[in-house]
Amino acid sequence: MKRIGYFQFKPVLGNPRENRKVIAEFLEGIDADLIVLPELAFTGYSMTDRNAVGMLAENPEDSLSVTMLTGLCAAGNFHVVAGFAEKAGDKLYNSAVLVGPDGMLAVYRKIHLFGFESELFDPGPDAPAVYDIGGLKVGMMVCFDWFFPETARLLALAGADVIAHPSNLVLDWCQKSMVTRCLENNLFAVTANRYGAETRNGKELTFTGGSQITAPRGVILSSAPVDGDDICIVEIDVEIARDKNITGVNHLLNDRRVELYGGLM
Ligand code: ACM
Repeated sequence: MKRIGYFQFKPVLGNPRENRKVIAEFLEGIDADLIVLPELAFTGYSMTDRNAVGMLAENPEDSLSVTMLTGLCAAGNFHVVAGFAEKAGDKLYNSAVLVGPDGMLAVYRKIHLFGFESELFDPGPDAPAVYDIGGLKVGMMVCFDWFFPETARLLALAGADVIAHPSNLVLDWCQKSMVTRCLENNLFAVTANRYGAETRNGKELTFTGGSQITAPRGVILSSAPVDGDDICIVEIDVEIARDKNITGVNHLLNDRRVELYGGLM
């Protein structure tokens, strides 16, 4: 059995120091294998332009945020997936980092940018991948990636038991859709959303909270309130995600007719 969960909070725009403090307070002493934090957890979301992102973005090889997460993971023997603004040379990515007791394991760069994000970030150039953390196979996607079922399907094909899904959702469709993503891919997902509001260029953006842990068969294991800090950890059996049989005769992945799917390209 593995223990997976989320920490829903309200990052303060442009204040990584304060956000790191809040994250450290909540994650100290938790008993989990994997905790997922929201998208852009250290910077907030509504940065005005690339210049503002560049001032706040971090190179994960040399990052106060990754160092702090590593310390928390080492003290509590768990792993974290956190959304963060990534600087890589002259590129800026809306990324998620997987960190464990020994430091950073992987970075995923969001491939489907939402709304004004394309003014701020470069689109991720790589397909999402899966990482084994002590017998739990974790894939990452970031927020709006949910709208494209190919993202979750790629992770299922790569063997993910659980999708870690840092989010800053502004619509309320995702949680319903994750029921289908988990049903059609027979895996677990942790959607860690934020709550609260931010203003960008005079326009207010309200985030929808409702972080959710979803299981194979589309079962919702946990659902956070739309507002307010919330930390939730549930126990899962990864073997359930590894059995891709739908019925005695149907198999989720083997029954696909890929020879007919060329029109998807
Ligand atoms: C989003 O992708 N942050 C809506």
